Amino acid sequence: MGNMTVIGAQWGDEGKGKIVDLLSGDVDMVVRFQGGNNAGHTVIVNGERYVLHVIPSGILHPGKVCVIGSGVVLDPRTFLEEVDALAAKGIDVSPGRLKISHRAHLIMPYHCALDAAREGAEGKIGTTGRGIGPCYEDKKARIGIRAGDLADPDLVRRKVTEALREKNVLFSALYGVPTLDPGEAHAALMALAPRILPYLADVSSVILDGTARGRKALFEGAQGVMLDIDHGTYPYVTSSNTIADNAAVGAGVPSSSIDTRIAIVKAYTTRVGAGPFPTELNDSVGMHLQQKGGEFGATTGRARRCGWLDAVVLRETARLCAPTTMALTKLDVLGGLKELQICVGYEFQGQRTLYPPQGPNDLEHVTPLYESLPGWDEDISSCLTWDSLPANTRSYIERVEELMGVRAGFISVGPDRRQTIRRHGV
Ligand code: IMP
Repeated sequence: MGNMTVIGAQWGDEGKGKIVDLLSGDVDMVVRFQGGNNAGHTVIVNGERYVLHVIPSGILHPGKVCVIGSGVVLDPRTFLEEVDALAAKGIDVSPGRLKISHRAHLIMPYHCALDAAREGAEGKIGTTGRGIGPCYEDKKARIGIRAGDLADPDLVRRKVTEALREKNVLFSALYGVPTLDPGEAHAALMALAPRILPYLADVSSVILDGTARGRKALFEGAQGVMLDIDHGTYPYVTSSNTIADNAAVGAGVPSSSIDTRIAIVKAYTTRVGAGPFPTELNDSVGMHLQQKGGEFGATTGRARRCGWLDAVVLRETARLCAPTTMALTKLDVLGGLKELQICVGYEFQGQRTLYPPQGPNDLEHVTPLYESLPGWDEDISSCLTWDSLPANTRSYIERVEELMGVRAGFISVGPDRRQTIRRHGV
């Protein structure tokens, strides 16, 4: 495999952290290209659990260069907390191996306040509350603060003042929440600048110079394709493009420099926050998946909604991202269920459809069409080869491959790095 992109095929939380961590052993650089600390990538190494929010998961592999691209929105406060927490565990987080694009936009306290105010008590979208959407809004409105701006305190002061002139009106007149003082916001940010500036780099050069010298890069996606701002279940989406091709845009490299695309598919479906979810289960099977799968958010602790695997979602991911390989995760969680169902299509307005219907609320009105497969009782978490998997597990995997049209190069049967079966020469 050459340079590769890893993306989530569903609504996020597919187990990307573990697969990225595993593949980090095969590459030299790991690059985040979108999203921010709304992500929570859980990695377990030798029994120790790490949750990474914005620092690429490759940081847990000594010597790998980790890059935060211009497509990421970076909260400098939580970034430094993450740096300190990793350093306390003896992990090298020096600027020699951790790089931030000058062009990455900074999440400011007023972005978090706006996110919270808009969500209100009822949580309209169910965002993570990390200020992601408001930060991307300012980027598109061309009023955002970029990491490189920290070298110019006067520029930052003007930008903060300008941003708060507008946002304080919203806070006081519309939302009835406290306004923020521009001087304080500026001072708080500039107090962090001396620790952020050493990490800034021309990340396109870091990646492309590296690949020119035969080094390999892994582009680590966050969230999942159904949360993509253009192609997901809008408005119940995140504010960035989560599809594979955004890796090139968000990292600042040509798409021709990436030849492998790995879609992470959880063996069932989950989603956090509001929005349509055709295969959701509010019964004992849903409870089984949530409890056995530990389906509670790594970032917010919220219980994830759970349901059967949805092949319509996987087909949509396949056509948007053309994955070269699939990593099928959390298969062990299905163990103990007598019968498994896979949604193979939807019935919509009296017709069978293989792709999500395109109208605004159509996904709320589809009926999943299920196919049943026999389950397995065996504990597969110690199966380390394809042949050692029960026959019913192999049939399930083969059916998923067929429905998505992508072969499973990785089969994950537990949270540890070692609990992974690799096939098809990946
Ligand atoms: P935001 O990204 O915080 O604006 O949240 C928008 C939507 O994306 C909400 O439904 C979140 O629950 C969801 N979301 C954001 N990040 C993740 C993630 O890493 N995993 C799963 N869902 C996420």
